[in-house]
Amino acid sequence: MKGLVYNGPRDVRIAEVSDPRIEKETDVLVKITTTNICGSDLHMYEGRTSVEKGKVLGHENLGQVIAVGKAVERVKVGDWVCLPFNIACGFCKNCEQGMTQACLNANPGSAGAAYGYAEMGPYNGGQAELLRVPYADFNCLVLPPDAIEKQNDYVMLADIWPTGWHATELAGVKTGDSVVVYGAGPVGLLAAYSALIKGAGDVMVVDRHPDRLKLAEQIGAIPIDDTKEDPVETVMKLTKGEGADRGCECVGWQCHDHGGHEVPNDTMNKLVRSVRATGALGVVGVFMPEDPKAQDPLMKHGQIAFDFGAFFSKNLRMGSGQTPVKAYNRLLSRLIESGKAKPSFLVSHELSLEQAPDAYKHFDARENGWTKVVLKPAA
Ligand SMILES: NC(=O)c1ccc[n+]([C@@H]2O[C@H](COP(=O)([O-])OP(=O)(O)OC[C@H]3O[C@@H](n4cnc5c(N)ncnc54)[C@H](O)[C@@H]3O)[C@@H](O)[C@H]2O)c1
Ligand SMILES: [Zn+2]
Ligand SMILES: [Zn+2]
Repeated sequence: MKGLVYNGPRDVRIAEVSDPRIEKETDVLVKITTTNICGSDLHMYEGRTSVEKGKVLGHENLGQVIAVGKAVERVKVGDWVCLPFNIACGFCKNCEQGMTQACLNANPGSAGAAYGYAEMGPYNGGQAELLRVPYADFNCLVLPPDAIEKQNDYVMLADIWPTGWHATELAGVKTGDSVVVYGAGPVGLLAAYSALIKGAGDVMVVDRHPDRLKLAEQIGAIPIDDTKEDPVETVMKLTKGEGADRGCECVGWQCHDHGGHEVPNDTMNKLVRSVRATGALGVVGVFMPEDPKAQDPLMKHGQIAFDFGAFFSKNLRMGSGQTPVKAYNRLLSRLIESGKAKPSFLVSHELSLEQAPDAYKHFDARENGWTKVVLKPAA
C-alpha cells in the first residue's frame, strides 16, 4: 500500500510500504478514507523528535473496517470507525481509570501508545491506505449512519476536538466563566469552541495569524492579535482587571516570539499573568522531556523558567498532558450527529495522499489559509 513516511527533517515522502495485517486476534484492519495532518506531526517533521526513518505517520484516522480478527466481537466488517490517537488495552491499571493516554500494555516499558508517533510504540500511522487497529473492540468508536457524509467532522474526534475539550476540562471551565486560550491552531480553536459549547462567557483567543484569529471570531470568541496588543493587558482590560477565570495552553514548547525565535516559557508565564487568583490552567500543548535541538538551554533538558512564585501566590491549579480521547469521543460524536456541532469549520484543505508532502510544507510554515489539512487516501 501507499503511505506517508518520515525520511528525515522536513522530508516526508509517499512510499510503497507493506500492507498491515491482522497480527493478533483482537486487531481489525481499517481502510482509511479520512486522516489529518496534526500540529503534533510537525514536531516530528521539523526533526525535533526521535522518530525513526520509514515510520508511517498519521494519528487522526477514520475509515471503514475491512477485516476483523477472530477474537473481535463488537466491531464488524463494513463499520465506519474513528480511532482515538491513543492505543489502549482497556484492562491495565491506567485504562481501568479512564486514563487511556497512559496505557501500560500497548507500549511496554512506557505509559501511552499512539499511531505513527515518536516514542509511542511500534505502530504505523494512518496517513496511508490501510491501518491496523489493536485492541479493536476497545479502541474503535463505531460511527452512526451519517458518518460517510460527515467524515470531516467525525475525524476531529480522533484527537483535536477531544484535546480542545480536555484543555477546558483540565481548566475546569463552567457556564459563565471567562476563558483565555493561547494558540489559535486547530487545538486552540477547538478549545475555544468547547468552552463556548459549555456556555462560557467571554472566550479570548491569542495568536498572530489573521486567518486563524478570524476563525476564532467566527465561532464567537474574541480574537487577540499579540502583534498588535499585549495579550495579558488586553485580557485584564476585558475582565475588569481581574484576569480570566480559566486559561488553556494550546501551543506547546515550540511557542515563539514574532520573529520565530522559540521562547518555551512564553505562553505558560503569560497564562499565569492572564488568569485570576484561584483560577486554573489546562495545558495540552506538548512540552517535551528533552529536546537537544532546542534554542533555549533549559529546554534542552525539558525545563522551562516558570513563574512558580506567581502561580503559587495566585493559588492557581494546573492540569496537563495527553488527552484520554475515549473519555470524550462518544459524547462529542452525539453533538455532531444531532447537528449541534460542526468541528470541520476549521478544515482549510481536503487533499489526496499524494499531495501530503507538499501539504506538510505549507502547514508547517503556518501559511495564510492553511488551518487544517484533511487527506483522503482511499478516495
Ligand atoms: N495533549 C494532547 O494530547 C495533544 C493532542 C494534539 C495536539 N497537541 C499539541 O497541541 C499543540 C497545538 O496543536 P495545533 O495542531 O493547534 O498546532 P499548531 O502548531 O497548528 O498551532 C499552534 C498555534 O500557536 C501559535 N503560537 C505560537 N507561539 C505563540 C505564542 N507565543 N503566543 C500565542 N500563540 C502562539 C501559532 O501561531 C499557531 O497558530 C501542539 O503542541 C500539539 O502537539 C497535544
Ligand atoms: Zn493530532
Ligand atoms: Zn491499558
